[in-house]
Amino acid sequence: MTLTSKVKTVLDSLISPSKAELKDALLQLGITLDDLAHLPEPLKGLPYNRKLLYKNKEVELLVMNWSQLECAPHDHGNSHGWIQVLSGTSLNTVYEIRGNGLPAELFHEYHHKGKFYYAPKKAVHKMMKASNHTDMVTLHLYSPPITGMIVYDFQKCAACVVSDDCGAWWPKEQSQKVKEIQLMKNAAPEE
Ligand SMILES: [Fe+2]
Repeated sequence: MTLTSKVKTVLDSLISPSKAELKDALLQLGITLDDLAHLPEPLKGLPYNRKLLYKNKEVELLVMNWSQLECAPHDHGNSHGWIQVLSGTSLNTVYEIRGNGLPAELFHEYHHKGKFYYAPKKAVHKMMKASNHTDMVTLHLYSPPITGMIVYDFQKCAACVVSDDCGAWWPKEQSQKVKEIQLMKNAAPEE
């Protein structure tokens, strides 16, 4: 079976998949860097370039090829999903949401090649390549396909709901800003 047909078979069987079912799908696919010809080249000035490998009503599978820039802290809207490190090491920072304030950093950790990282609905994180000397490629399986992602800019002290064609960075185009929200600097943690 070709990768394309395997991806379709495995992912089309998922209906509102649970955390475990999503991870199991990635394990069944067992995708490695060797399976992925023509990776998207990292784009200048942006943290990563992405390529959609598959999408249906329930899930989307993307590969991301990283530059040396970190992405902005962001959530994945109402989607949850897994990130699999295909090559390199990721430095992942996890935040606590603070209502109308800026998220607060909880911890950061390194994810080496082969690691699976779960991102729950509404959770905020950011990622970057841990070393400039190696490439970093990550595979992302989300359910449902991400829409209404929120991106944070700590300097602007603002959040922005971005359009689906925008990645985890502050939108460059006005048309990618669905809604901009000014935040408070020192908000208390949510109860
Ligand atoms: Fe993310």
